[in-house]
Amino acid sequence: MKLVLASDHGGYDLKEEIKKHLEGKGYEIEDIGTYNKDSVDYPKYGRAAAEMVAAGKADKGILCCGTGIGISLAANKVKGIRCAVVSDTFSAKMSRAHNDANMLSLGGRVVGAGLALEIVDIWLATEFEGGRHERRVLQIEE
Ligand code: RB5
Repeated sequence: MKLVLASDHGGYDLKEEIKKHLEGKGYEIEDIGTYNKDSVDYPKYGRAAAEMVAAGKADKGILCCGTGIGISLAANKVKGIRCAVVSDTFSAKMSRAHNDANMLSLGGRVVGAGLALEIVDIWLATEFEGGRHERRVLQIEE
């Protein structure tokens, strides 16, 4: 599975932790930045990562900013993207099982690295349940 990772300065440290963790597990990672803690504008990164997922250039995407919110709002402007801001393991599971989220967004100033990595692992391991949830996801697309 190929994953695209992106962050702003507020999510940079967490993105680096996630990258190291997922590379260690054998995932193919494309990190599209930011590459240091200099202040940058998160919409550019959220959009670029979302466009890769929407175009099929990555299977899923993981975003980080200070709260996870701003960068997810930008990602969700791209057609076909369902980006969930998550800070607990139950929501991580449900965002995949019921919402078929194709992007995950985390706040580097909200969750510690330990919890964030658990969230990432659960999110990646959970399949979409389909069934009645398929209809609802299609309604989001419409
Ligand atoms: C940057 O200071 C901060 O606003 C950003 O990382 C994010 O939290 C926005 O939603």
